[in-house]
Amino acid sequence: MVDSAHLITQRDRIPSARYYDEAFFACEKDQLWQHVWQLAARLDSIPNIGDWIEYRIFEKSVLVVNTKSGVKAFHNACRHRGARLGKDHGNCAKTGFICPFHGWRWDMEGENTFVYGRHMFAEDALDPQDLRLPEVRSEIWGGCLFINFDDAAPGYRETMGPILDRFDAHNASDLKTEWWFATELPANWKVAMEAFMEGFHTMKTHPQLQRAAPVIYNSMYGNDTGGLGLPIDPSMSVRENVASQIRHMELLSEGMAGMIHAKEVEIARSLADVDLPDDLQTGVMTWYGMFNAEVTRRLREAGEDVPDLNAVKVSHYVHPIEFLFPNFFLLPMASSMSSYRIRPLTAETCVFEIWSLTHFPKDSDHVSPRQPTVLPWDSKEFPPIPQQDYANIPEQQIGLHAGGFDFMRLGENIEGLIANYQKIIDGYLTGVPPEKRTAAIHQLCNNFDGPVLDFGF
Ligand code: FES
Ligand SMILES: [Fe+2]
Repeated sequence: MVDSAHLITQRDRIPSARYYDEAFFACEKDQLWQHVWQLAARLDSIPNIGDWIEYRIFEKSVLVVNTKSGVKAFHNACRHRGARLGKDHGNCAKTGFICPFHGWRWDMEGENTFVYGRHMFAEDALDPQDLRLPEVRSEIWGGCLFINFDDAAPGYRETMGPILDRFDAHNASDLKTEWWFATELPANWKVAMEAFMEGFHTMKTHPQLQRAAPVIYNSMYGNDTGGLGLPIDPSMSVRENVASQIRHMELLSEGMAGMIHAKEVEIARSLADVDLPDDLQTGVMTWYGMFNAEVTRRLREAGEDVPDLNAVKVSHYVHPIEFLFPNFFLLPMASSMSSYRIRPLTAETCVFEIWSLTHFPKDSDHVSPRQPTVLPWDSKEFPPIPQQDYANIPEQQIGLHAGGFDFMRLGENIEGLIANYQKIIDGYLTGVPPEKRTAAIHQLCNNFDGPVLDFGF
């Protein structure tokens, strides 16, 4: 049972013990993580028949296998005495899975193919049905396999709702991994995620972005309202506004890679001098329309399956940062995306992964990485923006333990995503019916920098 002192009672206040209390963490482990859909593997990391990759969450290990009959997830344990069958990644097309302990074997479909010392076992111990590797429930979406340990939970599409259709229209399932990093952070998994759930920290944490295009941030978070409804600086010409937006794109691309890809920034730069209407709003809007059209046209010409960006930005809008409950992010600015997955290890440590995703030409010989490059969290090899974000996370974890710091206070109109997903966690811990939780999860769509919501629980 969850300690009611740790539940959210005032929506814009998050009790600090939720980020370190061992009993609360144990409740999350049993009542949240056993019942949610979680990204087990990106399919481009197992492109060939027989390719497999291990997914770990707490003590559980799952094999995700690209089999002849589709991608499947199996519990990763030998049916003899439980040894783990596969570690990290590999290909089982020729050999199947061979247990390292006594050599029993399984094929890629999970059928047992060999029992060493068969005559020494009782017949009912070797029932073929019982020797099969048990499957974990799974669903494919967006070029990824998602798993759920709860067979009674609503399906992935039903759980996530309209955000999936929006990303489908953006051809998310065609994206491939350009690079993949992982790190262990000395912080609760929720602290790590929340560093990416609002743009309000840009002014202090990413000052280079703020400097490049101050109007973007001042109009959203500062006292300067901008006044035009678009991030446009009225003291500058159309061309100067466009130049500052391009500079912002360059810094975001250097800092975040796939969120806006270098090839897209290059297209933006090539449009720096086009003729535009003098009127500020019309001029800047016209430029963005041209940018989206040119990214679409040029990348399609290069053989990439990119969506019509101008069309989908209207018909299937996705915010540049989208959070998919409980621990997955996609960050689409143009046709490419960054992506994060955050997994708890202990109450005060987690694994944070970043993928840089983009479309590749159909005939490309691109090979996606099979495993992440693992770096220390303070490595200078991370792109500049995650480096800046990571620096805050351990500091916050320490501060949360301070005497008298009973709760985080959230801006109710800007840090709502944090309040809202945390409230959904409470929905799992307190037994709110699945329909209500699902309806709440749907409301996280486009909620980045949004308000605190009332889910009716
Ligand atoms: S534990 Fe796997 S063959 Fe014995
Ligand atoms: Fe950030």
